[in-house]
Amino acid sequence: MFVRIPYRLHIYDLLKTIGIVTLIVYLALPFRFASHYDYIDGAHIEGALLPQVTLNVSLQQTFECSYTDIIANNRFVYSSAYYHETVHHAEEIWPGGEFRPEQCQARYSTAIIVPYRQREEQLRAFLTYMHNYLRQQLIHYRIFLVEQYDQKPFNRAMLLNIGAKVAAEYGFPCLILHDVDLMPLNSGQMYACVETPRHMCPALDHWRFHLPYQGLFGGVVAITTLQFKQINGMSNVYHGWGGEDDDLYVRIMDEGIGICRFAPEYSEYTMLKHKPENPNEHRRALLQAAKLRRFMDGLSSLVYKEVERRMHSLFTHILVET
Ligand code: BGC
Ligand code: MN
Repeated sequence: MFVRIPYRLHIYDLLKTIGIVTLIVYLALPFRFASHYDYIDGAHIEGALLPQVTLNVSLQQTFECSYTDIIANNRFVYSSAYYHETVHHAEEIWPGGEFRPEQCQARYSTAIIVPYRQREEQLRAFLTYMHNYLRQQLIHYRIFLVEQYDQKPFNRAMLLNIGAKVAAEYGFPCLILHDVDLMPLNSGQMYACVETPRHMCPALDHWRFHLPYQGLFGGVVAITTLQFKQINGMSNVYHGWGGEDDDLYVRIMDEGIGICRFAPEYSEYTMLKHKPENPNEHRRALLQAAKLRRFMDGLSSLVYKEVERRMHSLFTHILVET
């Protein structure tokens, strides 16, 4: 009797401890909510990229740049020291934040569209890092910053529509819709379009480098200008945080286009820290009617006022009232 009771207690405590430890390990496991996704591996990236450039680049008449080594030598290039860095060879960047290699003819022309309001510190870090990062890819690119001037809740998707419209006017065949707080970590994450719209940041540090759900299509997305027009752009009715990227995903799938991603080792991003934005309470209801709305809500219904367009040394600034 005396021997059995403490023995039982011992087993019970042990089981309890195992239970608690298992629970903690499970909760802390980074891939607890990971969604596995199909991707284009490193060997197939170059073949997947669409060679397409603006007219001025196509007239350059030098031999074409080579991208094979850039993709094959994919490596981790990020360092938080970028905060103290400056843009290397800033004189090679044209006013408006445009760059193209001179020694060879770029195969890809990309407009990087950044919706923006009141994130000055992040913007400075983004511009410095991105110009240094993008130049080593030997692509032709230009950064368009679309800033919401009014005090209404932030309308990310509408700003992206505006940026896409302007970039199309400048002749860009490929658009990259890019949050200002996200930065690529791998040198081979090519800033160019492929056959289907591409989610570029499935391995985000904020999500412990795992994709939370298959349909996540926000942050950084590459889409051709033609496809963006084909799906009528993004919805203009999402005010505040959330849902507009899910709506974009619905449009692309409903149109039967499909999406893709590159392998995780090409798709790592870091997110700069910031306070969470105010969520849009109506986002779920809006999303439910996304398919019904998509033909009448988008580029076809885009109304805004351009307050100013200015060529800064590192970006084209488009200031708008939504
Ligand atoms: C929101 C998206 C957001 C995602 C990840 C979803 O619930 O609707 O807009 O990108 O969460 O944060
Ligand atoms: Mn963010």
